[in-house]
Amino acid sequence: MNYQFSAKSEETFLKIKDQFPDKRSLILPCLYFLQRDRGFVDNDGMQYIADRIGSPISLAHVYGVATFYTMYNKKPVGKFHVQICSNISCYLSGSDSVTKEFCKTLGIDKGQTTKDKTFTVEEVQCLGACGFGPVAQINDRYYENLKPQDVSALIHTLQAEGQ
Ligand code: FES
Repeated sequence: MNYQFSAKSEETFLKIKDQFPDKRSLILPCLYFLQRDRGFVDNDGMQYIADRIGSPISLAHVYGVATFYTMYNKKPVGKFHVQICSNISCYLSGSDSVTKEFCKTLGIDKGQTTKDKTFTVEEVQCLGACGFGPVAQINDRYYENLKPQDVSALIHTLQAEGQ
């Protein structure tokens, strides 16, 4: 097994581990730690979580939760994970043009990651900010009322932040 919680995740795990009467409730935060530490959730990490939580939690329990929620990445993503809502409100506000502009500017298709592993662009279902579309979630931040003409500046800002 290669994965173990980062120091930050370990500290939080130790703080919260006795706060849940039902151990199943620890799976979600542990998957969040794994994704924050590693960028995605894989079998090795999920096995580690099952072992850390302990009986009766098994790899199957952890896997079941990870595959139910789309916000857990099952494969590596770029440093900036650009998730653009393509649901009806955002679509009617122009999300398709925003997605196309991200893809065109970065030279990738939907679902792909740039060669330098900086950006992944994906369309996702409702992000729960329907009144402010088109909406994109980039890592933990929301960007609302996006327009295609905003995309280039946003990419430059993120690139500058990421250095
Ligand atoms: S439809 Fe886009 S956030 Fe809900």
